[in-house]
Amino acid sequence: MQRILITGGTGMIGKRLTSLLLDKGYEVIILTRDASKYRQKENEISHERLSYYEWDPSEKTVEPAAIRNANVIINLAGAGIADKRWTKKRKRIIVSSRVNAGETIVKALQEIPNTINTVINASAIGWYGDDSVRKSNAPAFVETDPNASQYLGITCKAWEDSIEPVKSLGIRLLKFRTGIVLSEEGGALKEFKRPIRFGIAPILGRGDQIISWIHIDDLCRMFLFAIEQIGLSGVYNAVAPTPVSNKNFMISLATKMKSKFFIPFHVPAFLLKLFLGEVSIEVLKSTTVSSEKIKNAGFQFIYPSVESAFEELI
Ligand SMILES: NC(=O)c1ccc[n+]([C@@H]2O[C@H](COP(=O)([O-])OP(=O)(O)OC[C@H]3O[C@@H](n4cnc5c(N)ncnc54)[C@H](OP(=O)(O)O)[C@@H]3O)[C@@H](O)[C@H]2O)c1
Repeated sequence: MQRILITGGTGMIGKRLTSLLLDKGYEVIILTRDASKYRQKENEISHERLSYYEWDPSEKTVEPAAIRNANVIINLAGAGIADKRWTKKRKRIIVSSRVNAGETIVKALQEIPNTINTVINASAIGWYGDDSVRKSNAPAFVETDPNASQYLGITCKAWEDSIEPVKSLGIRLLKFRTGIVLSEEGGALKEFKRPIRFGIAPILGRGDQIISWIHIDDLCRMFLFAIEQIGLSGVYNAVAPTPVSNKNFMISLATKMKSKFFIPFHVPAFLLKLFLGEVSIEVLKSTTVSSEKIKNAGFQFIYPSVESAFEELI
């Protein structure tokens, strides 16, 4: 059985992925900036096939045993993109944490004897621009489209470039441009649910901007699919087959949570800009992203529609 090393495996996606891989019989090695935190205390996931090792991507150092013992690396590490206001300092941390992670993995693979055969790197649909810049005859952004020239597009390009050298080491490389991940454990869904609990369904800006999303279990199954289908390589969009407008997303979520007992409320764009600053550009951006490539590779979604996702998550 392959041994899977997950950087940033302590985060929202990493924890769910770890559970799935352990269930499937894999050994999981989590690379974290603070292994003692997880080794000492009763960590949330504890298992005989799970171990924690430490790295410091800002210093480009890794415990060599983590690399020596693994066959596959899944790189999820990076400072939260929407966790805090985008000050100049925060924007630098968002990029550098990802580029440092990629470069640290490349350096470790060059210097530490290893049997790594596959690297799967997280990326984001922030790679793409607004739907208005998409080729007019294309129904959705596809993997060959260029990166956007705004902050997130440039960040994703630097993130993806930092891991690219692993290919010259003869290692299979995949990059997952991931949509908004829907999970009970946090992320965007938690924020969307908060006002609905009080009976208000906020529709952001005009509400017609498209959200390309994915259920966390489908995303984790996609990582598993990539590990097992050794013919796959390159970039894949990790989004569900049915992107929806912000308005339809919120109404569908509110209906699931509250039946008819909620009031849709339009939050004007200027208020979002006031409260969120530059992050509001991303919230108001319409990004329709295609899942055709991964579907054509044989991947089957369990949660293809927001209704099916909410049915499971709410
Ligand atoms: N969630 C989404 O909707 C979504 C969408 C698109 C792409 N993604 C990408 O997928 C990856 C995983 O997402 P997630 O939601 O699981 O993120 P998360 O919960 O924030 O976890 C990311 C992990 O990265 C590590 N990390 C945080 N700051 C870091 C830094 N400055 N330097 C190095 N490592 C750092 C942390 O692990 P340690 O503290 O243990 O080191 C953390 O647990 C991220 O790169 C994210 O950008 C997520």
